Amino acid sequence: MLKAKIISTGSYVPSRRLTNGELEQMVDTSDKWIMERTGIRERRIAAEGENTSDLAYEAAVLALSRAGISASSLDIIIVATITGDMPIPATACFLQNRLNATQAAAFDINAACSGFLFGLSTANAYIKSGMYKRILLVGAEALSRFTDWEDRNTCVLFGDGAGAVILEAADGQSGILSVDIHSDGSYWELLNLPGGGSKYPPSEEAAANRLHYIKMKGNETFKVAVRTLEKLVIDALEKNGLKSSDIALLVPHQANLRIISATATRLGIGMDKVMVNLDKCGNTSAASIPIALDEAATSGRIKENDTIILEAFGGGLTWASAVIRW
Ligand code: COA
Repeated sequence: MLKAKIISTGSYVPSRRLTNGELEQMVDTSDKWIMERTGIRERRIAAEGENTSDLAYEAAVLALSRAGISASSLDIIIVATITGDMPIPATACFLQNRLNATQAAAFDINAACSGFLFGLSTANAYIKSGMYKRILLVGAEALSRFTDWEDRNTCVLFGDGAGAVILEAADGQSGILSVDIHSDGSYWELLNLPGGGSKYPPSEEAAANRLHYIKMKGNETFKVAVRTLEKLVIDALEKNGLKSSDIALLVPHQANLRIISATATRLGIGMDKVMVNLDKCGNTSAASIPIALDEAATSGRIKENDTIILEAFGGGLTWASAVIRW
């Protein structure tokens, strides 16, 4: 049966590291608190003038060169992001232009931290239906531009970066086995960026009220995340007739080490089977899974025929999982 297969990966993070020690100088926090409560040691910050599409471009170029294909052969470009260069046009259009991917239709997806997996669901459906054959999917974020550097509840969490995958139609055993996406808009108040849209358009008042920064009720979000993710992964395994012991690697959204280890404990898998890089990157929202996936794939942690689970949880609220035979 026709499947969508990830034929290559790529990622890019900006060179500037922002350490917990530096954050101690900016807000009332400590390296100890951040490490214990989140597992984050440092995060990357985009340089001035380095925008989301620039991060996406670097990741995409790497994925294209590793696949040995040219951008002109792409049918579709999807960018999952909540921090696009501009409200209009889509960041995917900036990327298409820079890549000179003249044949590709390009659009963005907003599902916050679950965005990459919502994009994967879309790409999977396009390829399985036979509608398109070759898709570039990128998760890219410049969250530092929307982070309130005076709010210790959120500013210690986020980082910038991008990860990309190329998907193609394939006939064999390997490829995407399932992608499941979910939303519950009744929880929208837990995590949002209120300003800049039609509800609170840009204005001096909106700026004075700091509405253009990300707001999160962290503890409430944490509780829903833990509860939801445990069931999500178990459901994904059951759907494919798999057991926890079949998982070669779990690649979770990198929000909080405590959330990640709670999921691993519930599944009964050791942390040696979990990809964690949030200590280096922080939470990069839609970019976090493809960055972690790229690191896992290029460092030899994923081998051919391995069963990989991806899972994410984020603003919306949204949550999603994918099961892949590599
Ligand atoms: N440094 C020091 N203290 C801090 C702090 C910081 N950076 N941020 C918050 N605190 C304080 C709080 O003010 C609070 O103090 P109080 O008890 O005096 O009121 C205390 O630490 C506990 O805060 P709380 O929010 O309950 O902490 P927590 O254990 O829930 O951890 C998060 C906070 C944000 C790390 C955690 O809730 C989390 O990761 N949430 C989920 C994030 C997520 O998955 N989002 C969806 C995907 S993006």
